[in-house]
Amino acid sequence: MIKIGIVGCGAIGKEICRAVDKGIIKVQLVAIADRKLQAASAFASSLRSPPEVMSAEELIDVVDMVVECASQTAVREILPSALKKGKDVMIMSVGALTSPELLKEVTLLARKYGCRVYLPSGAIVGLDGLKSASIGKIDSVTLTTRKPLSSLERAPYIEQCKVDLSTIKESTLIFEGSAEEAVKGFPDNVNVAATLSLAGIGTQNTKIRIIADPTLERNVHEICVKGNFGKFETRVENVPSTANPKTSYLAALSAIATLRRLSDPIQIGT
Ligand SMILES: NC(=O)c1ccc[n+]([C@@H]2O[C@H](COP(=O)([O-])OP(=O)(O)OC[C@H]3O[C@@H](n4cnc5c(N)ncnc54)[C@H](O)[C@@H]3O)[C@@H](O)[C@H]2O)c1
Repeated sequence: MIKIGIVGCGAIGKEICRAVDKGIIKVQLVAIADRKLQAASAFASSLRSPPEVMSAEELIDVVDMVVECASQTAVREILPSALKKGKDVMIMSVGALTSPELLKEVTLLARKYGCRVYLPSGAIVGLDGLKSASIGKIDSVTLTTRKPLSSLERAPYIEQCKVDLSTIKESTLIFEGSAEEAVKGFPDNVNVAATLSLAGIGTQNTKIRIIADPTLERNVHEICVKGNFGKFETRVENVPSTANPKTSYLAALSAIATLRRLSDPIQIGT
């Protein structure tokens, strides 16, 4: 069985730990690491088979695969060193890879040391179709994200452009631009935009539209892809995670599904 270690034991990390503990995923959870050491230790001891709690650096040495569910800073801290030690890595804070320098370094290291870097679909649906379509010619990829007003508060774009959210009484388009611009203006949307861009036509060419909708309680992501294959559209209404309302429950499930796929004898989907 593959030995995994989880860096970041918050909403997503805990869901993965519980899934391993219940036998939903056939991997061995040997270690967890978190900045909040005491909380991580308390959580570890709540599991039937408690993993060891250690630093992220120590964790890299005792696992076959590092599972990052912490932050973009953690990706920058652990990803290159894990690859240099020949470890596979799964990343949830995909936004870190919108840095062309880090993406290039990671690609070179993974090739050199024969490792894999897994980026789960996260909170969006349609990456399977996008990956297939990108073998041919893609004309456009557009992500329209509809958000409740509360999840847009304090976004840098809202503050810089002085958008008064309290005056919005109906569904309103507040941003339209490239994924590169969206990542800067709406960092909370960064993972979705990054994964979509990496699977398709890059951050400069992927278009993002952000709609503020006072009637919504869930984040809605709609993807439209056009190319020489034809056209597809997907839509997901995400239930927020109870532990972290900024994170969609589907994102945690996609991490669990990615790990489960590692040991599946039959691989379904692109
Ligand atoms: N790919 C996607 O679609 C997607 C969706 C949701 C969330 N995310 C990202 O996944 C990550 C985890 O999300 P979450 O909801 O579980 O977050 P969370 O805030 O609930 O938990 C993160 C945990 O990581 C720990 N942590 C942060 N930085 C660390 C570091 N450098 N070293 C060790 N521990 C560290 C924190 O103490 C915390 O316990 C976030 O970066 C989030 O943006 C990605």
